[in-house]
Amino acid sequence: MNILVTGATGFIGSHTIVELLNSNYSVIGIDNLVNSSEKVLERITELTNKQILFEQIDLRDKDKLSQFFENNAINAVIHFAGFKAVGESVENPLLYFSNNIKATITLLEVMAQFNVKELVFSSSCTVYGDPQDVPLTENSLLSPTNPYGRTKYWIEKMLLDIYDADSNWSIISLRYFNPIGAHPSGLIGENPIGIPNNLVPFITQTVIGKRKKLSIFGDTYPTHDGTCVRDYIHVCDLSLGHVAALKKLKGFNKIDYYNLGTGKGHSVLDVVQTFERVNQVKVPFEIDEKRPGDAAEVWAETARAKEELKWEALLTLEDMLRDAWNWQVKNPEGIY
Ligand code: NAD
Ligand code: UFG
Repeated sequence: MNILVTGATGFIGSHTIVELLNSNYSVIGIDNLVNSSEKVLERITELTNKQILFEQIDLRDKDKLSQFFENNAINAVIHFAGFKAVGESVENPLLYFSNNIKATITLLEVMAQFNVKELVFSSSCTVYGDPQDVPLTENSLLSPTNPYGRTKYWIEKMLLDIYDADSNWSIISLRYFNPIGAHPSGLIGENPIGIPNNLVPFITQTVIGKRKKLSIFGDTYPTHDGTCVRDYIHVCDLSLGHVAALKKLKGFNKIDYYNLGTGKGHSVLDVVQTFERVNQVKVPFEIDEKRPGDAAEVWAETARAKEELKWEALLTLEDMLRDAWNWQVKNPEGIY
């Protein structure tokens, strides 16, 4: 099986490639390297003793993408490539419509042209918006609250229309909760460019001395300690979720949606305290204003993935935060 991975050198793409190679899939990667480095490929080889075929392609370049499909026999696609910063999407929605939606349409057109109809799509729990109830099931109301979230929602709807028109497609949309951590080797991890938007990279960069202190956005939410609760999931568990989805796709001829989370919620203060405990460090922080748009509690009901994909997250918050710190210490500047 030749699997095409888009966004191959990115955070989740690179970890998923390692798990695919470990499961003996043959992998072909593409990425335009806007948010990652080609050096990640050397790390993947160091980890697996295997090499993948890689080409630098922007998914919106239809001619180049078609040529790539012409030159390579592809059985299925895992589509990670895209932008993911909520704030940036509010400031520049067109960037998100182009890089998430236009790029996905181009990919789908080329897949259809070459009769490649097995797809795993990177969606997000952001499609649920501010939940009315937790845990979120796959049938919870979809109500994204920002342009980034809407790109994921619209792509899910496009995929449904494509499947309705041609049931030869097999499509699984994976709704990730909060992926954090890094490969335990410390060879690959999250490589944020500039000031991190997300909690855990901000913590690791603060502890290593790149940022002064963490701002905790609000402590008066209706949660056990007043700070927001999220469902953090280890990126290695998440990657194995993709291998499970890929296995399910064979002869699936359906479209379906799965939450990938742990089913457990942890507050911002839980994360800070656990980070301090497992890594024996201090996290300087202050309580700051609430961040506009943050929901109090977001966590997953995970039964469907467990029953139907035979997959569940096994690693703990301790594992995630130890591995995130190990990655930061071994790669203080990331991989560029
Ligand atoms: P990432 O930025 O590390 O990886 C995305 C990769 O896609 C990057 O290497 C980037 O260079 C590449 N890319 C972007 N636009 C491209 C284009 N037009 N053509 C080719 N390559 C392109 O992000 P990630 O955290 O690995 O996220 C992967 C996917 O998972 C994204 O679709 C994201 O929306 C989704 N997701 C991520 C999170 C998260 O918190 N990390 C949560 C939910 C969903
Ligand atoms: N937080 C802080 N300080 C920071 C950063 C974050 O207190 O410097 C808090 C936030 O207020 C939130 C929690 O930490 O309560 C987690 O915040 P993140 O930004 O790490 O994650 P979010 O849950 O806000 O959203 C992230 C991505 C979205 C994605 C979503 C679900 O940014 O794109 O996870 O996958 F959709």
